[in-house]
Amino acid sequence: FIQCSTQHPSETQDIVSHVLGVPAHEITVQSLRMGGGFGGKEMQPHGYAAVAAIGATLTGRPVRVRLTRTQDMTMTGKRHGFHSAWTVGYTDEGLLTALDVTLTADGGWSLDLSEPVLARAMCHVDNAYWIPDIAVHGRIAQCHRTSQTAFRGFGGPQGMIVIEDILGRIAQTLGIPAREIRRRNFYSGDQCTPYDMPVRHPDRLDAAWSQVIDHAEVERRETEIEMFNATHPDRRRALAMTPVKFGISFNLTAFNQGGALVLVYKDGSVLINHGGTEMGQGLHTKMMQVAATTLGVPLSTVRLAPTRTDKVPNTSATAASSGSDLNGGAVKDACEQIIDRLRVVAASRLGVPPADVRFSRGIVTALGTDGSLTWEDLVNTAYFQRVQLSASGFYRTEGLHWDASVMQGEPFKYFAYGVAAAEVEVSRFDGSYELRRVDIVHDVGDSLSPLIDLGQIEGGFIQGTGWLTLEDLRWDDGNHDGDRGSGRLTTAGASTYKIPSLSELPPEFHVELLDKAHEEGAVYGSKAVGEPPFMLAFSVREALRQAVAAFGSGGTGGNVVVDLPSPATPEAVYWAVERVRATSADSAAVPS
Ligand code: MTE
Ligand code: HPA
Repeated sequence: FIQCSTQHPSETQDIVSHVLGVPAHEITVQSLRMGGGFGGKEMQPHGYAAVAAIGATLTGRPVRVRLTRTQDMTMTGKRHGFHSAWTVGYTDEGLLTALDVTLTADGGWSLDLSEPVLARAMCHVDNAYWIPDIAVHGRIAQCHRTSQTAFRGFGGPQGMIVIEDILGRIAQTLGIPAREIRRRNFYSGDQCTPYDMPVRHPDRLDAAWSQVIDHAEVERRETEIEMFNATHPDRRRALAMTPVKFGISFNLTAFNQGGALVLVYKDGSVLINHGGTEMGQGLHTKMMQVAATTLGVPLSTVRLAPTRTDKVPNTSATAASSGSDLNGGAVKDACEQIIDRLRVVAASRLGVPPADVRFSRGIVTALGTDGSLTWEDLVNTAYFQRVQLSASGFYRTEGLHWDASVMQGEPFKYFAYGVAAAEVEVSRFDGSYELRRVDIVHDVGDSLSPLIDLGQIEGGFIQGTGWLTLEDLRWDDGNHDGDRGSGRLTTAGASTYKIPSLSELPPEFHVELLDKAHEEGAVYGSKAVGEPPFMLAFSVREALRQAVAAFGSGGTGGNVVVDLPSPATPEAVYWAVERVRATSADSAAVPS
């Protein structure tokens, strides 16, 4: 019996059973909840679980394995660093015509999840833009660093940053506002992605884009920013908008399944198990809400049991933002089976056809009559009639197909959309900057739980901002002159590795959920939310690019192309400003 901080209990079970040489039915893995996962616990806990299992087997005693913070940072995998090389074609109006890109992922010492990470990166180089002619090449480089792994976005951010960087450069080369260039290149009509999947509902992206411009008063603020920049020689402000289009489902079709077990006890109380894991994203709350809604009982009637492999077998990782879609579908299925049975019992008690029975807030009513029953009364009656009061539910995402050998198909059930506008202010003296204001409109369909979703959007955005502006991994990579170094992480603690904190929150942070966004075929019309908002943080990076350009003689729209490293730390921004100031004397257009 293993209690593990794992996003993928079934895979932990598989690995332990393999290492101990015993069948899977002898191993039970339980994940009550994690103190955060973010992808890092999708695969890497298995080895430590196996170490504990071997210790327990050899000693006959319980064994606990827990890494210190320094061990954790030194030994476990990170987001894959990517190198990208590209050639782009575009018209004088800034319309993309062609892209040839090669992505090389730093996989670290073992393959881990590098292949699916690379696949998702390759499927996201287009982000929200139609590129008529495109070739995408991907490869994974093995090296002596930690074995890189899943991290929120799973290659999506590394793929999407390429096109956002390109569009930021095209805008500066042509001297056309980046906001306009991005809008011109959005998917529309029946256009398909490079892997031949139709981009359904591109109008939602248009709607979110217009709503941000409107609610964030972007045009008025752009004018104010011009005035500020004209009167402050050592500081520059800029506002950038970027979109997100993120595919929801695992690329590997088989993983898109979920299971649940729902038990109704004689007193009417309900216990649910499902195959997903809780890591702070609110999945358990959403699953209880799905059960309460489907059964028509108050939330307090439902309790959730820890995720265990002996309750729900063969589960997928809680990853790819699909936890609510897959497990919610399964919980709903189990509850509907129970409701279908109870409906017949209620119909005979109330003297109506089963189709006329309604379940809401713990009261069972019938159309066209005044009669009613309490949920508890109905359940008790059903028990004495020997009606089964438990069910196992199952869900699989329909309509998916993916041929990995040619990278073609429809790997995603739908796309999650979002738009962000970020305003920054940069100082030329030390490259320090402030995030002044952020406005987001994000598409979560018909939200299962608006408060949870708002939290996910805010948290994802700030985490993405940390990735793009602060979090600077440094490795002992030797001197590149025959000395390969140790591959050891040198930023292995909070003193050398800066993550975002309250001080990085913008003083004005507005998040809205897109209206009228019901997603047909998803659980109660809701959409996944866990990862997509992470990539809204490109708006911060692009705002920094524009602010740096504004130190040149041409202003924010001037023809100076800014090379911005990632992460754009204050140090990196400082040197970018210095380069712009050095080249802006003649303010000549720099070729891309
Ligand atoms: N939110 C919190 N608080 N903690 C986490 O570890 N992980 C993120 C996201 N939100 C995470 C989080 C990641 S990487 C994913 S894939 C999703 O939650 C997973 O949960 P879901 O599928 O239920 O959205
Ligand atoms: N995110 C996105 N896609 C994925 C993941 C993930 O964590 N795991 C496998 N495919």
